[in-house]
Amino acid sequence: MSSQAVLRQFDPSSVVREPVRAKSSYVPSPRDERLASHMVRLDMNESPYGPSPKARAAIAAFVTTHRYPDFDQWALRDAIAAYTGTTPEQIFLGAGADDVLNLLAQATLEPGDEIIISEPTFGVYRMQANLRGAKTIDVPLDSDFQLDVDGILAAITDRTKYIIICTPNNPTGNQLSRDDIDRIVTSAPCLVVIDEAYSEFAGTSYADYPDRYQNTIVFRTMSKFAGMAGMRVGYAIVPKSMAPHMENIVQPCHNVSTVSAEAAIASLDDLDYLHEVIQKIIASRDELAANLREIPGVEPYPSATNFLLVKLPVEDAGPVVAELANRGILVRHFGNPALGLGQCLRVTVGLPDENERFLNQLADILEKA
Ligand SMILES: Cc1ncc(COP(=O)(O)O)c(C=O)c1O
Repeated sequence: MSSQAVLRQFDPSSVVREPVRAKSSYVPSPRDERLASHMVRLDMNESPYGPSPKARAAIAAFVTTHRYPDFDQWALRDAIAAYTGTTPEQIFLGAGADDVLNLLAQATLEPGDEIIISEPTFGVYRMQANLRGAKTIDVPLDSDFQLDVDGILAAITDRTKYIIICTPNNPTGNQLSRDDIDRIVTSAPCLVVIDEAYSEFAGTSYADYPDRYQNTIVFRTMSKFAGMAGMRVGYAIVPKSMAPHMENIVQPCHNVSTVSAEAAIASLDDLDYLHEVIQKIIASRDELAANLREIPGVEPYPSATNFLLVKLPVEDAGPVVAELANRGILVRHFGNPALGLGQCLRVTVGLPDENERFLNQLADILEKA
């Protein structure tokens, strides 16, 4: 056979690892639809207020696109360490918390290893473990959306690399009990990852845990409270003994672009402004929840985040979410029926007029249903 013919027969997907080929999980909204300018985007838990003025100024003034970032990104790590009360050596950066989670999976997971999660929770954990051929063990939240601590401890095996605890949890929006988390952290003979992407809205923090407990890693992001989702800046706070190992798998420059790093540093120098934004979002969230309760049969769950999980008086919220999209409003529905989630939508707190549009359209759709 000629080499041309051999090449024509070559199937590029034959080199793809099986767990990657088998991947089926996160299905984002169709691309064109999400980005259309008339769409109200309340589906990704972004900040509707954008970055702080200092971050905007840093981005506008940025010119050194031709220079690689400092390999160790000390300036950003210094700023985050000061913000979190930790040390720069403990800060491990990535292009969003997702990237850092992925690097942790890369550093720790072999095929056949296990991680423990508690559904319903953030879908990326399962996806990243599966992609590495690791097993995801689900010990579901209880009916109050709290951890089943005994179940989690009983599910640990000698293949368990880490337990992921998301607090406040996405998509339920509630904080998990600190006593429960403490019991897990102090009993589990494996890593415990605490993802607090929404910590600034909850006003709680586990940033000191990696220093106190050798088995704890904390994840944070600039995407939510700082309005920087598009800049992709996330980080882990790791125990000092874990830091050198994480450094071994990080890409040179920590995956964070120079302009993103400068914008993040400027944001962390504008905390008064960001706290004002957080307070505005919390006030809007509480007003939105109160208004939702006025719609017959609609029940928002308590939230410590910038989004609400909302139970609707229908068996399946999917068609309602699809109709909202037809009317220009994007919110999330979760196929997972666990704990009544199929009846719920998740809505991000938007600008006051966006929240109002969502409310009016939802009330109209439910009235006609
Ligand atoms: C719980 C949780 N962790 C992590 C992330 C990812 O954040 P980032 O934008 O930093 O990748 C999200 C984003 O929605 C999230 O909800």
